[in-house]
Amino acid sequence: MRLAVIVLAAGGGTRMKSSRPKVLHMVCGEPMINFVLESAEKLSPERIVVIIGHKSEMVREALSCFEDRIEFVHQDRQLGTGHAVSICEDSLKGFDGVVIVLSGDTPLLSTGTLNRLLDVHNRGGAAASILTAQMDNPTGYGRIIRSSDEAVLSIVEEKDATAEERAITEVNTGTYCFNKNKLFEALKKIDSNNKQGEFYLTDVIGILRDQGEKVMASVTDDPNEVMGVNSRVQLAEAEKTLRRQINEKLMLEGVTIIDPETTYISAGVEIGKDTVIHPMTFISGKTKIGEGCDIGPMTRLIDTTVGNSVLIENSVVRESTVEDGAELGPFCHVRPGTLVKSGAKVGAFAEVKKSVVGVGSKVPHLSYIGDTKIGDYVNIGAGTITCNYDGADKYETVIEDGAFIGSDTMLVAPVRIGKGAFTGAGSVISKDVPADSLAVERSEQVVIDNWVDKRQKKKGIKKG
Ligand code: UD1
Ligand code: CA
Repeated sequence: MRLAVIVLAAGGGTRMKSSRPKVLHMVCGEPMINFVLESAEKLSPERIVVIIGHKSEMVREALSCFEDRIEFVHQDRQLGTGHAVSICEDSLKGFDGVVIVLSGDTPLLSTGTLNRLLDVHNRGGAAASILTAQMDNPTGYGRIIRSSDEAVLSIVEEKDATAEERAITEVNTGTYCFNKNKLFEALKKIDSNNKQGEFYLTDVIGILRDQGEKVMASVTDDPNEVMGVNSRVQLAEAEKTLRRQINEKLMLEGVTIIDPETTYISAGVEIGKDTVIHPMTFISGKTKIGEGCDIGPMTRLIDTTVGNSVLIENSVVRESTVEDGAELGPFCHVRPGTLVKSGAKVGAFAEVKKSVVGVGSKVPHLSYIGDTKIGDYVNIGAGTITCNYDGADKYETVIEDGAFIGSDTMLVAPVRIGKGAFTGAGSVISKDVPADSLAVERSEQVVIDNWVDKRQKKKGIKKG
């Protein structure tokens, strides 16, 4: 069987009240249309045609990750779903077979459900088959009109429906299989004589039926899966459903999620077994976490690679790598381009940017480390700051293996601390420090004996 997929994504998404095209709104960290395209790809169709129109450049750009696996057709004016499909006729000229039509705003639809629809369609030898669902609240969806013997007759859009038709709870999910030639023939007969003044794809069903063609329906058993996202309220519902699915899949793979209700993991994230995720944790992008880690509570990991047995508590880590056995937080901020090597520690109220923290090295408290290469087994005293920016340019700091940086050291970059060297607490280090030496930069301490007595006498204060 030859198969092509058309994905509808040209609409403005008026009900989203957004400057961003609807299909690019994010569900669990990915534009919702990505999920639709991923499900479509798994059917291995010959062609995937995406109809774009409203802010098409933005959509094209966002879908560049699909490269040449998809092709675009431009719908200049959004005259309705039927019009959108009809303009694909030219690009599908050489194709003959089954056409699946999907909506870019139905992100939870699974390949399994699509396969069942295809099966119903092929086995029944139908001209068209609709994926339908029984919805407790069918508001907003087209209703499925069936004859007394249950045969599908047509689809009526809610705005055009009578009160009696609106009471029908079986809805059109906007997902269909068509015989290609019959689809495009029927599309020539649709008009825009309806409440919305649009060319409805749904009218094709009634037209095919009237021609005596076979129209079938496959009723999905999971209405959540086929929900269309038209508003931000529905966007949040879709997010919630997908979030639950992602968390359940991870738990079944051996990840402990203490409270799935407050754990927000994006679709593309990978987590190894025996890792524990604590509440209020957000893991997104291309983050990959190894086995036996302890992550959270209140932690955010974005596009970060985490090894095995890593501890991250109350922290934010972005576009960085954290190796095996490292420890982050509580309350640290690891910014892009950082590598925390195995067994290293970045502790409370420390910020690290575009730096390497070497094997077993420690930045335990209250530090800023930027554009710095810290070697192995270095200790950075509390309050140490790398002064990497002079208001115009950024400079690098190098701290070699085994160095000991005294508390509250200011390292004025560019500067290098040699292997095994020490800096005295409170020093402002602006010159390189040779290996195994001590650099102290602070004035001698002065002690004035009996200063308090003298002061009291001078001021006439009585001794308390
Ligand atoms: C549509 C169906 C409705 C179904 C519902 C399921 C029609 C007429 N109605 O309604 O029966 O219950 O989906 O979710 O088809 N689009 C274009 N070009 C256009 C118009 C729309 O590409 O000119 C795209 C939109 O971007 C969207 C999809 O088609 O991705 C569906 O359009 P939308 O306006 O959301 O249709 P619904 O009102 O939800
Ligand atoms: Ca819709």
